[in-house]
Amino acid sequence: MGDKRFTTLTLKEMKQKKEKITMITAYDYPTAQLLDEAGVETILVGDSLGNVVLGYKDTLSVTLDEMIHHGKAVVRGSERAFVIIDMPFLTYQVSVEEALKNAGRIIKETGAQGVKVEGGSEIAAAVKRMTETGIPVVGHLGLTPQLVGKLGGYKVQGKDPEAARKIIEDALLLEKAGAFMVVLECVPWQLAKIITGKLSIPVIGIGAGKYCDGQVLVFHDMMGLYTGKKAKFVKQYASARDLMFKGVSDYISEVKGGSFPEEKHSYTMSEEILAGILAE
Ligand code: KIV
Repeated sequence: MGDKRFTTLTLKEMKQKKEKITMITAYDYPTAQLLDEAGVETILVGDSLGNVVLGYKDTLSVTLDEMIHHGKAVVRGSERAFVIIDMPFLTYQVSVEEALKNAGRIIKETGAQGVKVEGGSEIAAAVKRMTETGIPVVGHLGLTPQLVGKLGGYKVQGKDPEAARKIIEDALLLEKAGAFMVVLECVPWQLAKIITGKLSIPVIGIGAGKYCDGQVLVFHDMMGLYTGKKAKFVKQYASARDLMFKGVSDYISEVKGGSFPEEKHSYTMSEEILAGILAE
């Protein structure tokens, strides 16, 4: 029986057929099951894990072991989606050898289908080496959260001609180096449209307008589970936190008021055994 999952080839075919590709982040088994059943083509175990799940102030503190731990759960929870795992800060920038070794750990230990890395020309050699070794790589350009210090904050990128040209060049370089997909974050829609037209690999946008080959959102943002600051590009599709908050509040008042658990939630002992115990 063949693998039922989406592949780099089927994703590229979607671009060719102009079918939009969906990607959502997940960091655990039940969320992966939910996204997979709902029909997303790709699941990203983003290093946004740091902000939305682990409570770090940014993505820089996330470790390789943490990505692998969460990545394994997501792979176990999915059957059809192509699972991509973010390589954390400083696991691919130091040397090509280290990048390969760390990407290899991610793929071997989690069973994921690909890895994602942030940056352009400065990491192109690592992307080339990983893809030549057989590891599918997704690039990430524009607002790259691992470089938030250098970028001076979470700001729209590629607004002036020089910066826009650099992002276009980097996107072409990543494709040439073997990347099978590029994520473009927080860039003007016109720039994203140009890049989507220039690349033969799928371009997935987040805050990059509607002309990309697909879109990605962070699960906790789109479901209203994250209480931190949200970017303009986030659309909230549900208020899951409010729903969960009500559930927890109802539970607290029912336990305190004695209306939970009811008889239907309890187990009964036979009268005979009970009588025996009481008689002892
Ligand atoms: O870490 C992440 O969730 C990401 C997406 C925002 C693309 O990189």
